[in-house]
Amino acid sequence: MKKVFAILLVLAMVFSVTACGSKPDAGPKKLKVGFAQIGSESDWRVGCTESIKATVAAEGWDLQFVDANQQQENQIKALRDFISMGVDYIGFSPVVETGWDQVMQEIKNAGIPVVMLDRNIVMPNSEDYYVTWIGSNFITEGEKSAQWLLDYMENAGISGQPMNIVELQGTVGSSPAIDRKTGFENVIKAHPNLQITQSQTGDFETELGKEVMESFLVKAQADGTPIDVLYAHNDGMAIGAIQAIKEAGLTPGEDIIIIGVDAVKLAFEAIVAGEMNVTVECSPLLGPQFVEAIKALEAGQTLPKITYSLEYIYDDTLTHVNPDLYLNAKEHLPSRVY
Ligand code: AHR
Repeated sequence: MKKVFAILLVLAMVFSVTACGSKPDAGPKKLKVGFAQIGSESDWRVGCTESIKATVAAEGWDLQFVDANQQQENQIKALRDFISMGVDYIGFSPVVETGWDQVMQEIKNAGIPVVMLDRNIVMPNSEDYYVTWIGSNFITEGEKSAQWLLDYMENAGISGQPMNIVELQGTVGSSPAIDRKTGFENVIKAHPNLQITQSQTGDFETELGKEVMESFLVKAQADGTPIDVLYAHNDGMAIGAIQAIKEAGLTPGEDIIIIGVDAVKLAFEAIVAGEMNVTVECSPLLGPQFVEAIKALEAGQTLPKITYSLEYIYDDTLTHVNPDLYLNAKEHLPSRVY
């Protein structure tokens, strides 16, 4: 009996020494987060990256950030590296929609929760491979772009007049390029006077936007189909195209109506300068929602599968006749951070 008592005493002492020697509560866990970003192809993307880096840093988490230079294979490699590192969470914005089946399965097998930002993946049962998706409704953006054009024409008293539209598409196979095209066409198909006469990718890049617009202008002249409207899937390409239009001796915003998407600072400046007509917002400031999603998951909460950002349309004409629908670019320029 004495022996048993002695053993219990020793165990109690060992336990109390261990307990006294343990560190005080170190606060919330320092999470390791991997983020596979597409690249830095546009001001939008740079704004998105800054938003993610700043908000994750403010939490004191360890961020493993990879800029994939718009190459899918670089993103796949980054995702595999995150698995090897044993990160707690993966953030991911896929450059194109398809080709992720294998790596998404590997992430799922490793049990790492994925928070998708901005762009979508297309694969069987895709929703089983990520916890939540946060971003913009790209189809709605395309529809808003076309609806703005119809409203603009009505306001100018030219509804029903034939309009030749050229389209600068985003990255081939990416969700914003596919959906912005679909959304725009959804609306114009009911208006046979609105025709897309030329359409080509500018890969969401300003320089390429300029080059493709130059070729549109040459072809338009050769064919005798003058360009009335440019619909650019992002503002960066619209800005490049504006340069090409000016160099061709035309006046952007007047000779050719310019529609862009993103609502970046440069687009607001171009609208204020009268060289661009409208920009449909697509917010890149996704960092706070990314961090909040991870915190909610840490707290064991269930998140919605899809969360769309609230976004507006900025111009300098329809703002004056329909302020409920359109916001003024000049007023909002000072508060733009990207
Ligand atoms: O996926 C969002 C798009 O990607 C933005 O519209 C574009 O500017 C960016 O490169």
